[in-house]
Amino acid sequence: MSKEKLALYGGTPARTAPWPRTFPGALDMGDEEAQAVMEVLQSRNLFRYAGPSDVAPHKVKDFEKAFAAHLGARYVLGVTSGTAALMTALAAAGIGPGDEVIIPAYTWIATATAVVWNMGIPIIAEVDETLTLDPEDVARRITPRTRAIIPVHMRGAPCNMEAFTALARKHNLRLIEDVAQANGGSYHGQWLGTFGDLGAFSLQFYKMITTGEGGAVATNDLDLYRRAQMYHDGGGIWRRDQDVADFVTFTGVNFRMTEIAGALAGVQLQRLDRLIAKQRAAKARIIAGTADICHAKGFAPRPSHDADGDVSVCLVYLLPSAAAAQEMARALQAENISASTLFDPTKEDWHIYYHWGPILGKRTANRLGCPWTCPYYTGEPDYRQDVCPRSLDLLGRAVHIDINPLLTDADIEGAVAGIIKVASALL
Ligand SMILES: Cc1ncc(COP(=O)(O)O)c(C=O)c1O
Repeated sequence: MSKEKLALYGGTPARTAPWPRTFPGALDMGDEEAQAVMEVLQSRNLFRYAGPSDVAPHKVKDFEKAFAAHLGARYVLGVTSGTAALMTALAAAGIGPGDEVIIPAYTWIATATAVVWNMGIPIIAEVDETLTLDPEDVARRITPRTRAIIPVHMRGAPCNMEAFTALARKHNLRLIEDVAQANGGSYHGQWLGTFGDLGAFSLQFYKMITTGEGGAVATNDLDLYRRAQMYHDGGGIWRRDQDVADFVTFTGVNFRMTEIAGALAGVQLQRLDRLIAKQRAAKARIIAGTADICHAKGFAPRPSHDADGDVSVCLVYLLPSAAAAQEMARALQAENISASTLFDPTKEDWHIYYHWGPILGKRTANRLGCPWTCPYYTGEPDYRQDVCPRSLDLLGRAVHIDINPLLTDADIEGAVAGIIKVASALL
């Protein structure tokens, strides 16, 4: 096919309708959420631990119970954001001054900043071809100071949890899963967020299910759960239903979830599996429809550690070069397909360590630059911009297509036609 047929070069686009925006849970909100929120407002009990009436709904508690049952985890704690969930998990795990925590080169910067706010030192490691943390590179970066690993199930894709659980056990490290972008995903039949000592979830607006802003921490360990409760509630653990007489308190913060967020979270949770099933079906059809052109033109979807457990928020193709990926993404956009590349050194994007100015520059809000200048820290993290060249290469060659539950048959068929058209002309 000639390039002139491409919409990018003046041809007619494969699709005319705009691509639906990716806010899966938010766009599925309906009367059930409205009713649950109204129940809270009418009760006038907006605070999870107390209010004018004892018979009021307890939406946060109900959500925590339902989410724990869904995950098969013993405990879930609702919090105010995914960042708060990570900070709470790290605090529960006792991460602090002098501790190194290994995180991936590709994750939202919050994974790194949460470590810093717990006075730990983020150590940046490569991702593999799945674009999730590479266990072999993590193993190379373990030092006597390493205390934890945070695998991030990035863009819906499960990390290699078999390797990470083995690595954490071998080196006696805490394993904290960042599930912000993969709520509802699984690895070999087990829910993501339940492999590590703790799992940190986000309910922010872009995520699979949402309360606008919100988050949750899951764990099977009573001690970690109590520590998480304490940290997120001002350091106290004195609430009516908390059986913790033997606990010595420590200073905490306020990451308590509101009853309104709890009401939304409880209803949204019931939508999760159905939304993911729709995304999986759409993604499978696009992959099947483009298999021949991939084969013919030498590009492929990113591999997976467990394709069945992928949340399918996106389809990522790996191309032979960054230049090819850039041109393909631009051409797909012109065909009205929501495509982008994942790394461009000239475009600031805090999902890639390369652009994490405050981390690479070791800049914090305090005047002394703690935790990097902390006397308890005896190492020197490698924050050169090229510290993870393989990740930059892979992300630079990636073309990312948004998948969401609102895609219609026509959208899916148009996407397949557009991808075949663009790849035929450009590759
Ligand atoms: C991988 C990852 N971790 C953590 C977070 C932080 O979540 P929140 O925005 O809810 O604080 C995000 C949010 O985008 C994320 O994508």
